[in-house]
Formats: sequence, structure tokens, C-alpha cells
Amino acid sequence: MKCSAKYKSSSDFQICQKCSSLLNAVYDEKKKFSYTKENSYWSYEEHMPDSKYMHYPAGGTEVIIGEEDGLYLKVETENPTKSFKDRGSAIEINKAAEYGYDTIVCASTGNMAYSISHYAKLAGMNAEVFISRSANKDKVKLIRGTCAARINEVDGDFTDAQNAAIEYSKKNKVFLTGDYCYRKEGQKTLIFEAMKNIRSVDTVIVPVGNATFLAGVLEALIYMKESRVINTLPKVIGVEAAGAKPLYTAFNSGKRIERETPRTKADAIAVGFPTFGEESIRLLKKVSGGMVTVTDEEMRLEAALLKEKYGINAELGGAASSAAYRKLPQKGKALAVVTGGNI
Ligand code: F0G
Repeated sequence: MKCSAKYKSSSDFQICQKCSSLLNAVYDEKKKFSYTKENSYWSYEEHMPDSKYMHYPAGGTEVIIGEEDGLYLKVETENPTKSFKDRGSAIEINKAAEYGYDTIVCASTGNMAYSISHYAKLAGMNAEVFISRSANKDKVKLIRGTCAARINEVDGDFTDAQNAAIEYSKKNKVFLTGDYCYRKEGQKTLIFEAMKNIRSVDTVIVPVGNATFLAGVLEALIYMKESRVINTLPKVIGVEAAGAKPLYTAFNSGKRIERETPRTKADAIAVGFPTFGEESIRLLKKVSGGMVTVTDEEMRLEAALLKEKYGINAELGGAASSAAYRKLPQKGKALAVVTGGNI
């Protein structure tokens, strides 16, 4: 995304070999989006990068209409590992198999590692996980216990773990997974499914950690608008925790993204330097989107409300988008994504 080098999708890089920046998926054929009869994750396979996909279960989650007029909740806690991360992992694991790997490596705040390790187990692969020593211990237990992944604890935050995973992938024959282009493509299915259910919406609200999801949501909506499946682009709002808000600060000040030390109990989105941050800012400007923050207390109250009203078990980061909805001055019809429930 910096030097404009191009690689065929048969090459197994996740990072540019020339300038070390992120890669983006570009399709040879300019495809047009159209809804499929079915509204499941794999029904959107033709909008994914080519591969011989094993259809591991993912996505196909429901949309609940909230009691407040106009609030629609996409319930991603219904995924096999209880977060939207499964939508990205289902593609990544297929790519790892296509390239002939038997081991994947991933850095994570928790959910992404739990998700990719689950799919690695299904595919009969090994998983190496790099995670901050201060990460959520229950998530670490799930990754190690349920998925039999190998945990490498890192002194530092998520960004330090991410750098360690990249270094590990350079020295070992392992497929680098995480917040890279294939995950972004898979996560777009969430928007395809939700828009088929609700057809039009004024605002889409998503939590932000590494901003891969935010960038994917923006790209998916632009793709649907260009394909004339939706008439207008909704406003897209990214939500960071008040204690980890590098993108909020950069977007609202017009300055470059500066790395922060995350200070929030919403461990899923405790990210101090979002990898897809610059790309998200560029796209947010295109759709008149914005960034907001919510406090840990606001997320805690929202998680309790989601439980009480709808029986949804959301973790703090998972409750961030509907928590942000409560604070919007103009509400209209809004889609808030409840991204995860590993509590
Ligand atoms: N919600 C949940 C529940 C998450 O786990 C994450 C990210 C996000 C939202 C934000 O998505 O990073 O694409 O902006 N979790 C990552 C992880 C960082 O390692 O599990 P993003």
C-alpha cells in the first residue's frame, strides 16, 4: 500500500517484500456485488480472494432490532469462537493450506488468536501465538487449552507482540496471520449479510483496535455503492476506548497517527498503533465518517444492558459500538456491531 509493488495471490506474502508495508487485495476482474439467495458467510465466496476453500463454519449471524427506534445489532458473539474474527480466520487458514504450511503464527490481544487457533485445529495445523504478558488471562487459557496453541508471552503491548510475530515468521516456515489483507476481505462478509437483512441504514458503528475491521467495512460499503446495491453511503463511525485512542486523535487533529500506551479494560481493542489506521482515515474522509470514544464505564453499562435486554454476552470491546450509539446526537437508523463475547 506504500510502494505499489504487486504480487500474484499465489505468493504467500502478507507484507510487502520491498517496503514492508501492508498489502491490499486487488481483484483482476472488476466484480460487481449482488446479493445471493442465501445469506450465509460462504454464499459470498465469489467476493473473496480465489482459493479452494474448505467451508469451515463462520458468520451467518443474526441481526436483532433494538428496542430503541432504529438500532440494529449484528450479533457476532454467535460465531464459533464468539467474535467476528472467525470471518477473517476462515479465509486465512484456507490460504495457509493453499500455500502448503502446517503452522500459522499470529499476534493478538486475544480474540484473533483464539479464532485462528480454532481454525488451525480444524485444519490440522499448529498455531504459534504472540500475546502481551498483560493480556486477558481467560483468553490465554482458551487459546492454550481449547485450541492447543503454543503461547509466546511478550513484554509490552499488542504492537510489540505483532512485531515479534513478524520477526518469527521471517525466521521460520510458518504462515503469518492476523491483521492483514485476507482477514480484511473475510470480514467484509459481515456488511454483506447485514445489508441484505436491513437494506438501508444511516449509520454503521464499529469498534476499532487495529482498524482492519473499520477499513474492511468502509471498503465493503463503497463496493456495494459502486455496484448500485445500495443508493447512498451510510456514515461510518469508528469507536475507540477512551484509554486507547490513537486513531480518534489523528483523525480529529489531522496529524499523523502517534503510538500510544493502551490504558483500558476493553482488552480486545487495547491497541496503541492501528495497522490499518492510515487507510481507515483515508476511507473515513470519503464517506463523511468519524471517530468517537467511549469510556470503560460506558462499555460496562452497555454490556450489562445487552445482557439484560437481549441476552447477549458481550465483552467490553464488543459493547463499544452500541455504547457509542447512545451518545450520538442524531440517531436515525443505525447498525451497531456487537463484535465479541469472550468474557
Ligand atoms: N471487537 C473485538 C471483540 C475485537 O477482538 C477486536 C480486535 C475489535 C473489535 C477491533 O477490530 O482490530 O480490526 O479494529 N481484536 C484484535 C485481536 C486486535 O487481536 O483479537 P480491529
